[in-house]
Amino acid sequence: MKGLILCGGISTRLNPITYSIPKQLIPIGNKPLLAYTIELLLESGITELGILVNEFNKPIFERVLKNYFNDDFHYIIQYEPKGIAHGLLFAEELINGEKFLMILGDNYFDFNLKDFVKDFETGYMNCKILLKEVENPERFGVAYIGDGRIIDLEEKPKMAFSNWAVTGLYAFDNNIFKASKKIKPSKRGEYEIIDAIKWLLQEGYSVGYEKINGKWRDIGNPSDVINQNIDILSSIKDNIKGEIVDSHVSGRIILGNGSAIYNSTIRGPIVIGEKTIIKNSYIGPYTSIGNSVNIEVSNLENSIILDGCNIWGVEDPIDSSIVGEGSMIMGNKGKKKTHRIIVGRSSKIYLSV
Ligand code: G1P
Repeated sequence: MKGLILCGGISTRLNPITYSIPKQLIPIGNKPLLAYTIELLLESGITELGILVNEFNKPIFERVLKNYFNDDFHYIIQYEPKGIAHGLLFAEELINGEKFLMILGDNYFDFNLKDFVKDFETGYMNCKILLKEVENPERFGVAYIGDGRIIDLEEKPKMAFSNWAVTGLYAFDNNIFKASKKIKPSKRGEYEIIDAIKWLLQEGYSVGYEKINGKWRDIGNPSDVINQNIDILSSIKDNIKGEIVDSHVSGRIILGNGSAIYNSTIRGPIVIGEKTIIKNSYIGPYTSIGNSVNIEVSNLENSIILDGCNIWGVEDPIDSSIVGEGSMIMGNKGKKKTHRIIVGRSSKIYLSV
């Protein structure tokens, strides 16, 4: 079966990080979010993969994914971000009448996709969706189930009468293209995939579902990224290639080539990339630190630090934070307590105490 990953939308909730990197490529445990999805698809037997991107992002997707996969993916440009059902139409030629699997690039899944794919491939259904019970269904597309069948679907209802969220993983046959051309834009001005699936349902096509037995997260805002980082780091295994000198290390740690930790306390799980130097610092659990980062006399935990950052003299811990590529944070160790800040558009700074 073919696979299609949608990465063409524009995300604002993760600004300013997403000014320089699409959210699907934000590193979680030092690996882009999208790489986890691609691995899941390849492991489940998907042979041909299309990645829908917008015209500005294509080069960065190609460059980043080349570092992780040898496979040639089809990059398809989605010219206007007008919703998921509009986006998938750009891939009609690639899908070429076959059954296919579609995943939203900002969703993370960890479950047995192989069985889901096999069932759909050999079954009679026109569409199959994957549901997860959630506490905040109003944030998602919602499915109403009766007698073991889907009876209705609604995109982000003001008040949901079901807790079953429609996750961003769908199996379709060719009829979804017909459906996507029939629907009208929603109140938020988008061609909703939920409306296209609802059209299939109303026209008598068979729409099945499976309740996900595994993990799912829609990565929409900074706390989703931080929570996903916690999940990923929870299952890392020790892999120490760099140097640890005069330091106290507990818990699991991945330390890349050319990196070094001097005179510091490290409490895993922690992932540190290559050529990163940590001196006289405390790094607490669930921290991912990229390549060529320098951290001195600082405290941080439960955070993601991207490549090329410099952090110096931050004594009160940096916690639950995401620091974009090449950023600098200077603390006030030994100086009068003042804040000197040079920040770009849409930055977020939380000064407590
Ligand atoms: C989209 C879909 C929604 C689905 C969600 C899953 O929402 O429209 O039906 O439940 O993805 O992540 P969006 O991310 O566009 O808000």
